[in-house]
Amino acid sequence: MTPSVFSLVHWLVWRDPRRRAENLLRFAEVEADGGRDLVRAAEVTTDPNLRKLFLKHALDEQRHADLFRGRGLALIRALPREGAAGIQADWMTPGERGLDDLRVEDEGDEKLLAFLHLSEKSAAKDFANYVAVLGADRPTQEVFEKVLHDETFHMTYTKKELERMAPRRAGWRIWSARLRRFWKAYLRLASALAGVFGFIVLTAQYLLVLPVFAWQAKRAERREGVGWRPIAPERNGSADRQY
Ligand SMILES: [Fe+2]
Ligand SMILES: [Fe+2]
Repeated sequence: MTPSVFSLVHWLVWRDPRRRAENLLRFAEVEADGGRDLVRAAEVTTDPNLRKLFLKHALDEQRHADLFRGRGLALIRALPREGAAGIQADWMTPGERGLDDLRVEDEGDEKLLAFLHLSEKSAAKDFANYVAVLGADRPTQEVFEKVLHDETFHMTYTKKELERMAPRRAGWRIWSARLRRFWKAYLRLASALAGVFGFIVLTAQYLLVLPVFAWQAKRAERREGVGWRPIAPERNGSADRQY
């Protein structure tokens, strides 16, 4: 896919103000969630330098959450009462994935730094793409510019800290984190595809299989006589029991 096609996709995704607002509010939740995970990471690390950086990082993510929420709500307030509902297209605008439901306590500093580095790197790339296509909405573009500045710092410090703590294993840690992210992305895609296939199969059953049963039921109904009919004598005993 060429960069121009990417830009067109981003432009289409961000074009509708309602969808723009929905994406910003979703980003706000993810940023706030990431901030909470980083506070937890600061609690569990034994490295004082890293603790300071994690706490600063957590404050940044909380500020991003506030910026996204503020702009998302401003966009919603500016919408006409009955705007067209936009489709949900989360996978096209992933934003920052934060720690992606990682259990901070189980990871250890090195794995966490590698995972964070990749996550911040991918967020910085996505946010730069959004800045490029949001020229028509200067306030939203400014929000992404501010956030992008911090994400670039997050991307850089996580790599530097990883190289300080594990100079020989840093490359391997990043590759291992990359494989985990790839696996998680595969699972997200697979569950989205399962939803689509489920919809297709159930719709096909409803439209193709159910009409056959309905037709057979109607045919059987036509064969039935109208009114009361005598039943076999062995079934015609007195009603002295329930069944
Ligand atoms: Fe962020
Ligand atoms: Fe970040």
